[in-house]
Amino acid sequence: MERSITLQSEVFQEMNESNESSNSTIHNVRSSFKFSHSTNTNPQEILVDEDGDLLLQRKSNIKEVVIEHFNRSPLDLVGMQVWRSALLMSDFIMYRRDIFNYNQVVLELGSGVGMTGIVLAMHCKETIFTDVNNKDILSNIKKNINLNKDLIIGHTTVLPLDFKEELFSELLREKLKDVKIIIAADVVYDNEITKQFINTVRKLMTITPDKTTYIGLEKRYIFSTTELDICAPCYDFFIELLNKASWCKLELLDCNFTQYFHYNRVKELVLLKLTVQKP
Ligand SMILES: C[S@@+](CC[C@H](N)C(=O)[O-])C[C@H]1O[C@@H](n2cnc3c(N)ncnc32)[C@H](O)[C@@H]1O
Repeated sequence: MERSITLQSEVFQEMNESNESSNSTIHNVRSSFKFSHSTNTNPQEILVDEDGDLLLQRKSNIKEVVIEHFNRSPLDLVGMQVWRSALLMSDFIMYRRDIFNYNQVVLELGSGVGMTGIVLAMHCKETIFTDVNNKDILSNIKKNINLNKDLIIGHTTVLPLDFKEELFSELLREKLKDVKIIIAADVVYDNEITKQFINTVRKLMTITPDKTTYIGLEKRYIFSTTELDICAPCYDFFIELLNKASWCKLELLDCNFTQYFHYNRVKELVLLKLTVQKP
């Protein structure tokens, strides 16, 4: 019998090093993504230092985002797993509360299982999760939102958005009026999807003004027999397209910020910021 190729995310492998659920049959599993966050121990008690400056007493707590996902998947269902860039982006959201806060309506592209969007919804007024309407991807996001409803403070919306499609739905166009921030984690792994993704981001960012997009990704290295060297072809292709695009300005962000979630923050993880270039 013909067997199709399946992939397993490194996040799941690292969490289950000696566990049977990393076997080759595809099935649903639930994983807990623990994160640390600090709270004021007693907001009533105001402490000051010898100069009279306010001292905040903080206590670190561990909480968890619970995610239902596949243990492995075929390539067309990689959105049923959690990938490392989702955790990098989650840390970035937790760290940059000046950007991700209750004033914001944020749109996420390629939400997958909804991990990063759930972290957005822990801080922002509204989170619009989007992905392709393929098999259980969108219903699984809704299930994961419900599993984490005690953490969520903002409104959540789950909508289909396929980078291949030229037009956005009426509901999305309506919602876009309030969106200033767009995020995407790990959607750069196939050159055709990358082209369609950039085209989608361009349309979203130029439909109404003042939008910023944050993109998390992992450079995946291979040995190239033509170059006789290691290279990250999907990342290189993506950067080349963005460098040629006159409509946007690209910035590489420093990834050396606080790590709240427990995962292996490898050096191949990258965070990019895109803004619209004024003509
Ligand atoms: C590697 S997964 C990353 C999922 C999630 N953001 C994460 O980091 O865990 C890539 C995501 O891109 C989505 N995707 C692939 N092709 C797409 C398309 N044409 N339009 C919209 N999303 C797409 C997949 O469904 C999947 O959710």
